[in-house]
Amino acid sequence: MLRVEDLSAGYGAASVLKSVSLEVAQGEVVALLGPNGAGKSTLMNCIIGLLTPSAGTITIDGHVVNREPTYQTIKRGVALVPEGRRVFGPFTVRDNLRMGSLRLRTSGAVSFDERLDYVYGLFPRLKERQGQMAGTLSGGEQQMLAIGRALMSNPRLLLLDEPFLGLAPKVVDEIRAAVEALRAAGLTLLLVEQKLDIALGIASRAYVLIKGRVGLGTTSQELLARDDLSDLYFSLASQSDTMEEA
Ligand SMILES: Nc1ncnc2c1ncn2[C@@H]1O[C@H](COP(=O)(O)OP(=O)(O)OP(=O)(O)O)[C@@H](O)[C@H]1O
Ligand SMILES: [Mg+2]
Repeated sequence: MLRVEDLSAGYGAASVLKSVSLEVAQGEVVALLGPNGAGKSTLMNCIIGLLTPSAGTITIDGHVVNREPTYQTIKRGVALVPEGRRVFGPFTVRDNLRMGSLRLRTSGAVSFDERLDYVYGLFPRLKERQGQMAGTLSGGEQQMLAIGRALMSNPRLLLLDEPFLGLAPKVVDEIRAAVEALRAAGLTLLLVEQKLDIALGIASRAYVLIKGRVGLGTTSQELLARDDLSDLYFSLASQSDTMEEA
């Protein structure tokens, strides 16, 4: 469904992603791990078309989307839950969801009301608060709204950028249950997460991004079985230091 090949991207003269390749098959849940500044969000922004890569290709169902505007990529069935939630604070919960439906993928003949019911079913708290200003929601509720907003376009591939960051354990459990329900419903997911236990509990495979390169791509089971798991980031980070010096 998603294929990223030899992708390089950056901001002005600063190169961030260096020849990144990864794949996500339909129905798969894949985690993207890596320390701060590794380029995880940069990769998500490239996939959704907010940033144009300098080299390489991104294909969605065989279509090269590198230079497509974001709305086109959304129409292809991709949606992003951005890092830091980015809900529209001065608008109500319902209006935020409406904005997410502006590029509703119509091929499945799904209506706004059907999507709204689906999102409210997944997060009943959003229904209770549908008239409340998004900026006055708790962090967890804002995260639910950010996920709900992305789901309003009826995506087939959902990109989740650190959806659990900064949330209390109880809220993490709630959102994790919703993400698991999405997985069970067959939605394809690419999940950025720094905590290995959370990521590997949800995903079947994982890629580790270190300083803009894929240091490791493997199944969650294999990754969990490694006894050096806690040192993994550190060792890969120092490997990539040597790589860069070489
Ligand atoms: N808009 C921008 N302009 C310039 N540099 C940027 C911009 N956004 C990110 N960067 C730089 O690109 C690098 C990768 O950032 P990115 O946000 O992709 O990392 P990340 O893996 O998502 O990190 P985190 O876990 O902290 O979210 C960092 O060095 C960052 O400073
Ligand atoms: Mg990030």
